[in-house]
Amino acid sequence: MKATGRWLLAVVVMAASVLAVWAAADRGLAQNSATVKPSLEKVFPSANKCKRCHERAFEEWETSPLSRSIHSPAFRASLDEYLAFSGNKDKALCFRCHAPHVNEFVDQAPMFVAQVQSGDPAIDGVGCAQCHLIKAVDRSIHPPVPKYEPGKTLFGPYKDYVENRAHESLEVDLFRKSDLCMNCHFSVPAAATLGKNNDLLGAYESSTAFKSGKECQTCHMPEQIGESANGENKRKVANHSFPGRVGKLRQEAAKLELKTEVKGDQTKVTVTVQSLVPHNLPTTHPAWASVVLDLTIKGKNLKTVYREQRVYGRTYANAKGQKTVFDFEATKVLEDTVLKPEETRAEVFTFPTPKDAPSFDVEASLNYAPVAGPPAFLQRIEAESARGAQDPVFQSIPIVKQAANVPLK
Ligand code: HEC
Ligand code: HEC
Ligand code: HEC
Ligand code: HEC
Ligand code: HEC
Repeated sequence: MKATGRWLLAVVVMAASVLAVWAAADRGLAQNSATVKPSLEKVFPSANKCKRCHERAFEEWETSPLSRSIHSPAFRASLDEYLAFSGNKDKALCFRCHAPHVNEFVDQAPMFVAQVQSGDPAIDGVGCAQCHLIKAVDRSIHPPVPKYEPGKTLFGPYKDYVENRAHESLEVDLFRKSDLCMNCHFSVPAAATLGKNNDLLGAYESSTAFKSGKECQTCHMPEQIGESANGENKRKVANHSFPGRVGKLRQEAAKLELKTEVKGDQTKVTVTVQSLVPHNLPTTHPAWASVVLDLTIKGKNLKTVYREQRVYGRTYANAKGQKTVFDFEATKVLEDTVLKPEETRAEVFTFPTPKDAPSFDVEASLNYAPVAGPPAFLQRIEAESARGAQDPVFQSIPIVKQAANVPLK
């Protein structure tokens, strides 16, 4: 009896304090807004607000693709393609990952679209609060869904955080786990119809890296020592520049090995591509990015005598059975040559043995390919970009290369 009584009392006290906290939070948040619902900017303060105290994290984040997730000409042009295709239905779709606060303000999706179309959105895409207000990720839904808990508390990795005047802090284990990244990196819009076929990361869980306890953060938010907030003691912090295509991590993506066999008039080169990545490579909207293995043979006077490529990526068919690069139009995966987690693939090339030279050069390189798509779409990106044809999406990005000189008898 006594125990039950105490338990009841505890429940009543707990319920009362929860209500009190919510009421206080409501008052605080609703204060300056005319509507009952707190404004977007109140619930998801812009990254600039965090800069005041978290300069290091801010500056790293600012250089990352996450800070430009709705600002790039490629995104603007692709969003328009999507809206034209969908007949302006489900305007929030692209923002679920590119500006995930739309999940809490679905009725404001047209404003998000207008911001992007303006060419200079004032709202953040994947800003600080867009990650640090996620309390949990529901992995039972496909693709996984973030559970936001808007309020004064920011979630993070520290149990032993220093108190501050701007916000409350709470340690949430999720911040050290891959699950946090999954709601945006697991699959793309078409995944619902294409099923597992179209998952971005592939069977990452069976890779040696994941089995040995690595998480997405281990490689993409590497640990360093620094100030977590301005003027605080140095401690273990996480790099917020999200190295990927940009940054040194790229050199750890793959190893190339060359084997050349000259057989009279014909030469055979075997390039062994060993992916060191514990998930699919590439791993983005499959058709909008691919990785290319380029083999170049240089003969007399270093003149290119032979060149061939192998492409790692996916191609889709749309409802009419035509090839398309847009995953939102895809009804079927036509071809999948993506490098699977830690896969080793041997590529064989045969060509006429170069003549009139004492030796020839074999050069193999692995690169992220420039954006692909219908000419009108590419022209649109070019027109939208301040840098025109020099926009970064039109450049290929070198990953690794390997060369050898082969003497001829
Ligand atoms: C709210 C959605 C969201 C979450 C959560 C998220 N990301 Fe991303 N991420 C994106 C988007 C969108 C981009 C692409 C931005 C762009 O290039 O326009 C991106 C880009 C990246 C890139 C750069 C890729 C490249 O090609 O260079 C890396 C690396 C990355 N994210 C890692 C992570 C990791 C690690 C986590 C978990 C700690 C994470 N992301 C969580 C949405 C998200
Ligand atoms: C499930 C999450 C998700 C959804 C939904 C999503 N994206 Fe992405 N998108 C990403 C991630 C993650 C990346 C970065 C991955 C990388 O670089 O490897 C990305 C990258 C991109 C890029 C290349 C980076 C850039 O900005 O230049 C474009 C363009 C893009 N997305 C457009 C769209 C459009 C248009 C839609 C809606 C049809 C959309 N995305 C829907 C997750 C998503
Ligand atoms: C894509 C999600 C994501 C975004 C965006 C993001 N963070 Fe983080 N942040 C994390 C994760 C995950 C950790 C924990 C990483 C770990 O410990 O392995 C973290 C850790 C932190 C920490 C504690 C450790 C440290 O590095 O100081 C602070 C403070 C922080 N973030 C502030 C910010 C600020 C400020 C911004 C915006 C400028 C921001 N974060 C943007 C995911 C994110
Ligand atoms: C008035 C200064 C101030 C402002 C403004 C501020 N923070 Fe903090 N924040 C701190 C301090 C101090 C810590 C404690 C750092 C430590 O323990 O090393 C902290 C800790 C954190 C942590 C770690 C919490 C944990 O338990 O792991 C995160 C995440 C974070 N802040 C995110 C943000 C974000 C996002 C914003 C903007 C919306 C923001 N902060 C604005 C001062 C501030
Ligand atoms: C053992 C280290 C490691 C782990 C763990 C890891 N990655 Fe990667 N990731 C890489 C390497 C290496 C590359 C390829 C080089 C590059 O682009 O930086 C890469 C590339 C990427 C890219 C850009 C590729 C593209 O096609 O544009 C994204 C996005 C990414 N990883 C997300 C993730 C996510 C999400 C997780 C967690 C499920 C994760 N990674 C776990 C090492 C890792």
